[in-house]
Amino acid sequence: MSAEATRILELAERLAREAGRLQRESYEGEFEVHTKSAIIDLVTDVDRACEQLIVDAIQAERLGDAILAEEGGGTDDPDAEWRWVIDPLDGTANYAHGYPRFCVSIGIEQRGVATVGVVYDPLLDELFSAVRGRGARLNDRPLQVSAETRLDHAMLATGFAYDVHRSAEDNLDHFSAFVKSARAIRRDGSAALDLCYVAAGRLDGYWELKLQPWDVAAGLLIVEEAGGRTSDFSGRQSCTSGRQTVASNDHLHEAILNLLQR
Ligand code: IPD
Ligand code: CA
Ligand code: CA
Repeated sequence: MSAEATRILELAERLAREAGRLQRESYEGEFEVHTKSAIIDLVTDVDRACEQLIVDAIQAERLGDAILAEEGGGTDDPDAEWRWVIDPLDGTANYAHGYPRFCVSIGIEQRGVATVGVVYDPLLDELFSAVRGRGARLNDRPLQVSAETRLDHAMLATGFAYDVHRSAEDNLDHFSAFVKSARAIRRDGSAALDLCYVAAGRLDGYWELKLQPWDVAAGLLIVEEAGGRTSDFSGRQSCTSGRQTVASNDHLHEAILNLLQR
């Protein structure tokens, strides 16, 4: 691993833990909740405080790095060598309802290639991380996807986009199809953790539509470095935009794609 990637990993881990501490301290306490694109699309002042903490530190310590952050902090720059793609709090609806499943997600690209990924669940103190070519870890332990080959033995997860009330492309057809063919389906409200759970073998596969780059920037690399596969619904392209996301233990990828293409 280059010295630069090591420094970036260490900074990303530190910032994910600091933002996670903020989340843990404010959880179940008093915070403001506002809506964004729809009545079900929420942002809290904890989301904003976490983003501010992360962006301020990157700007102080990494002059010249580009930043794409969900709540609009930082400055993107197509010419920068390093770009930080940040979801300061993934699982905001859960957080606002006191449902204990949310995280900080930080992915870092080098010249457009996902190179470092860190996802931190502050309640379980689980830090998922990966560096391209160096494998994925959960705290100090290496991660490996599951060995499951049968869809009817598989545990999958998905999610629904914030336009689900008004869009016909609502994932309900795929949801019913998987309910009828997999062992179990979960919808647990944090795309970044869903991806890390595929990497950890807790889930065998995951799909979702209309995510954003910050939802997947860290998690996709963590899945790939744990031996999994990621793609769009065609199986031919990457899903870094989040528009169509499939992640699996590789063995089940074709079966999942077949169902998504029906
Ligand atoms: C959301 C979560 C959720 C997914 C949504 C995302 P947010 O992110 O990852 O699981 O289904 O599509 O937007 O708004 O909590 O950061
Ligand atoms: Ca998110
Ligand atoms: Ca978020």
